[in-house]
Amino acid sequence: MSALKKSVTLRLALLLLSFGVLLPGICAADEITDGKAIYGQYCAVCHGRSGEGNGPIAGFLTTPPTNLRLLSQKYGNPLSVDQIEKFIDGRADVKTHGPRDMPVWGKRFYGESGGSEADTADRLAKLVAFLQSIQIGPQTGSR
Ligand code: HEC
Repeated sequence: MSALKKSVTLRLALLLLSFGVLLPGICAADEITDGKAIYGQYCAVCHGRSGEGNGPIAGFLTTPPTNLRLLSQKYGNPLSVDQIEKFIDGRADVKTHGPRDMPVWGKRFYGESGGSEADTADRLAKLVAFLQSIQIGPQTGSR
């Protein structure tokens, strides 16, 4: 192999390697950024921009919105993704317990995405990635 060819091959290999290492990190950061945008659009009015439960309409609600930065006290840190997604979704909850104080986001996202379960699940996952990123409690190791 010529020296030039060798160096090109080496560079290509390094490039591919760095993609493999970097890509998962970049994706996680994207999830949080997307989640933050969804949060700002749908959740901040009640839970506040920073998630502390002090959004502009919080004072008008009978049940105060939860401080979402402390979710790890209830759901562990890292957060129990399944449980929180189910709660935010709310569709299963309403079927078993009737109406609740938190809006039923699963129904809303499902409707807005033209009836796509995949899109609904994607939004919920991004929201939880964002919620994980704002936890202030210590790591508990439980899941
Ligand atoms: C209309 C006001 C309102 C909006 C908008 C809202 N929430 Fe809530 N949320 C509440 C209230 C009120 C509670 C407390 C409910 C309770 O204790 O039954 C709550 C509780 C929660 C909890 C805590 C669950 C627990 O087990 O303690 C999570 C997580 C949550 N909301 C996430 C979200 C997310 C994510 C969004 C946006 C998609 C959102 N909320 C939008 C009012 C709201």
